[in-house]
Amino acid sequence: MIKYLNISMPIANSNILVTGGEGYIGSHLMHQLSSKQKGVVVSIDNKKEKNKKTLQNAIFVKGDIANRKLISKILKKYRINVVMHLAGLINVEESMNNPGKYFDNNVVAGFKLLEAMRLNGVKKIIYSSSAAVYGLSRTKFIKETHPKNPINTYGLTKKVFEELLSYYHQVHGFEYVIFRYFNIAGANWENGLRENHKPETHLIPLIFQALFSDTPIKVYGTDYNTPDGTCVRDYVHVTDITKALQKALSLLLQWKICDVFNLGSGKGHSVLEIINECSKVVNKSPIIQIVPRRSGDPPFLLADCQKIKRAVGWEPQYNLMRIIEDTMKAQ
Ligand code: UFG
Repeated sequence: MIKYLNISMPIANSNILVTGGEGYIGSHLMHQLSSKQKGVVVSIDNKKEKNKKTLQNAIFVKGDIANRKLISKILKKYRINVVMHLAGLINVEESMNNPGKYFDNNVVAGFKLLEAMRLNGVKKIIYSSSAAVYGLSRTKFIKETHPKNPINTYGLTKKVFEELLSYYHQVHGFEYVIFRYFNIAGANWENGLRENHKPETHLIPLIFQALFSDTPIKVYGTDYNTPDGTCVRDYVHVTDITKALQKALSLLLQWKICDVFNLGSGKGHSVLEIINECSKVVNKSPIIQIVPRRSGDPPFLLADCQKIKRAVGWEPQYNLMRIIEDTMKAQ
């Protein structure tokens, strides 16, 4: 096991391209980077406009990561050292109904980004992967060495891109940090940032939407082989994720590294438990509508995060209650 523990934070003078910089994780990251970053930060996103709450001196480019000419232009013009690749589609159910769209966005467009990097000699990348690469967990806690047998198209596209990175390392000398996120939630509402997917599909914001509008919250399946029959997930605060991303930047700039890390909390909560915890915060219970299982959902996902803890000392600072309260305040 490599230990990188004595990392300082020499990210100040590096020039960074963040793909998906205006999305949920991206916007929180751009906000965090502002305090430390003195080099150029370029955010590329296919959203219409820059998120006003993120890094004000960042350069926003509206565009597609599959546009090799555009990416090459950005890499050259801003002398980019590291690409933080956060862009991608994330909806598990949609990926089962429209797999082509997911391969197009998460694999083909990502491949074009890698090619633009290769052609311009930019070989350091941080990649946002997912616990979805593991599929059905064979152990209670999932380590990075757990077999990767995704059960949904989303997870498969993440796995394929991870493998592409490994080949780009072997053949072209790329260096990378891959993060496999578990269930990211929470918000930096104090600074006007929140989860804002359209449509929203994630459990915690949907529970608050249901609570505030007196509409039912759907529970996708109560017949799983879990303690209460509903799916168990590992929730981690988005601000903790952005801190890990900053550590990854330091790592990539100081070490020759190709490594993969889980990012989760190591604590599992069922859908019904989450509904219950959210209810406590607003002192009100939502109407629960039990519906059939959602396509592509694994019953149980729980991270073993010892590797990142040992490597760089990262562990989550925010607990489930803080995640829930921040999501509620962000609505
Ligand atoms: N759920 C409900 N009702 C809802 C929404 C969700 O019961 O209205 C359930 C889901 O079935 C699941 C759990 O709540 O069991 C969590 O669902 P989310 O949609 O919030 O999150 P996912 O677990 O589907 O997705 C997350 C990440 C993905 C990752 C995936 C791994 O967002 O990036 O975990 O399967 F790939």
